[in-house]
Amino acid sequence: MAIPDEFIQELKARTDIAEVISSYVQLKRSGRSMMGLCPFHSERSPSFSVNRENGYFHCFGCGAGGDVITFIRKIENMDYVEAVTLLAQRAGMTVPENTTDSGLGQLKVRICELNREAARFYHRQLYSEKGKEALSYLRGRGLTEKTIIHFGLGYSPSSRYELVNYLKEKGFSANEMVQANVAVKSQRGYIFDRFSDRVMFPIIDLKGQVIAFGGRIMSDVKPKYLNTSDTPVFNKSRNLFSLQLAKNKAGGRLILVEGYMDVIALHQAGFEGAVATLGTALTEEQAMLMKKYAEEVVVCYDADAAGQKATERALPLLRKAGVRVRVLRIPSGKDPDEFMRSYGEQGPARFGMLIERSGNDMDYRLSLLRSSFHLEIPEQRVEYLTRCAELLSRLENPVEQDVYLSRLAEETGVEKSAIRRLVQKESGARAKKEQRTSQRQVQLQAGGRTDRLNTEKAGRLRGANAEEALLALMLLEPDAAALIVQKLTPDGFVTSFNRRIYQVMHQRVLEGKEVSLMDLSSQLSPEEMSRLAQIADRRPRENDPLSAAGVYLGILEEERGRMTREQIASADEETLREEIERLRRKKQ
Ligand code: CTP
Ligand code: MN
Repeated sequence: MAIPDEFIQELKARTDIAEVISSYVQLKRSGRSMMGLCPFHSERSPSFSVNRENGYFHCFGCGAGGDVITFIRKIENMDYVEAVTLLAQRAGMTVPENTTDSGLGQLKVRICELNREAARFYHRQLYSEKGKEALSYLRGRGLTEKTIIHFGLGYSPSSRYELVNYLKEKGFSANEMVQANVAVKSQRGYIFDRFSDRVMFPIIDLKGQVIAFGGRIMSDVKPKYLNTSDTPVFNKSRNLFSLQLAKNKAGGRLILVEGYMDVIALHQAGFEGAVATLGTALTEEQAMLMKKYAEEVVVCYDADAAGQKATERALPLLRKAGVRVRVLRIPSGKDPDEFMRSYGEQGPARFGMLIERSGNDMDYRLSLLRSSFHLEIPEQRVEYLTRCAELLSRLENPVEQDVYLSRLAEETGVEKSAIRRLVQKESGARAKKEQRTSQRQVQLQAGGRTDRLNTEKAGRLRGANAEEALLALMLLEPDAAALIVQKLTPDGFVTSFNRRIYQVMHQRVLEGKEVSLMDLSSQLSPEEMSRLAQIADRRPRENDPLSAAGVYLGILEEERGRMTREQIASADEETLREEIERLRRKKQ
């Protein structure tokens, strides 16, 4: 059963979006809206606006937006029901009992149960006859019994039917197994185990639910790892391996490594703050997630070229998220797991020392730069200082900047004031460049050329713009909404992204319900909510909403008959002639 509409209406009446957001973001009044620094991306000047009257927020910088429920979902990393519950508590209301999420919520619960059963199954296999080789593989890599149990490691048998049969007995359907991505469907419609003959690493979220698996092959066959693809409960760019173990043990310091085995080896050695990404480069979301649990992150990637590149990419994200960063380089090209094994009993103490000696991200970058120039040669010294100045110009803290300036002056024998001027010059140049690119982004988006959400917009710009105007009117002008619904069914839309939003709104109006953003929150995805907030935010207030609606309905009708650019490109001659003929008739 979904949360009843009346409850959401009441919650809406009792919740002030500006007040809720104020406990996360400092807001200042600016005209009709309130502005602040966006909590979903890092920025220096405010582009995050909250519209109290219409109950939505929107960021011009990163495009995030939506109603108060979407805001809580995003910032607290919650699902719909959790967010409603939190807001209800705040408003002194109790969510009616036995309300769960929509059908999708049910499926999520089932997938988590299924994954837990699968993890148990894999773990038991490790101690069976079939799992012998896997168990000795793990022991051979130095893992103790305690560690194997602590991480719930397992083994997936090679037969490709055992897990499926086991889960079937436990009452799970084929569809659930495929959705959880532990099974795959053959072309003929049979399902079989996805993981076969691999060592299994369960991936567990912050609530302790098994959300995915990584499986390592024990030979040189590729791919080395097979991971769960994204499912209703798992998104690889939003979770970190072992964060659930690290979050309370880290003591304010997380260690970011590349691989599952590195995490496990470090935990076994007593470094319980170790976490890893899930087979992808670090994302902004993961960096923000780390910031929730730690003040400091030690980046400890492999010493090879790929590791160095990954470090380069991770540093700005971590700095943006607001954590102190250190970079640990392991000598002689080892990864943390190999390091621990090669030093045996001394491993933990030595690794601890490496952490204490590791510098911050600026030290790391400067030392990389330093190693590529010969400072005895004047030209190279100039080049080196110019590159350093570029780096230092990114530092916001003047004291920090000054510390490095002194160091560089001493190292190169160049006056500190001269290096400072170089830094100031770089700052100025960069500010100008940033301004230009952000202006350009706004222009591109308005032109629809880079619309990631509505991919059809570029080919149908005029139609899509009319659709957006209609959606905004639906949201802001009840009278216009009634008119639009009368004249236009969802098939009248030309882009499917906007059509889906309209479908939901259309249905509500037909049922005689309101269509403010918050009323739509349970039926639209966070992406759709963001877009809708953006559309509403860009739209000026119409003096005469009814006649405006008429104009946009007209434009949309014209656009409906028109062929898209792709259709024209692939049409045969006959069709094109007809189209030209049609356009000519219309002109007359
Ligand atoms: N990875 C992956 N798919 C691959 C290779 C790697 O998803 N085909 C991910 C895994 O999360 C892996 C991490 O990238 O843990 C690091 O890869 P790598 O350094 O190659 O593996 P290790 O974790 O060091 O594993 P091992 O020590 O067992 O070789
Ligand atoms: Mn390794």
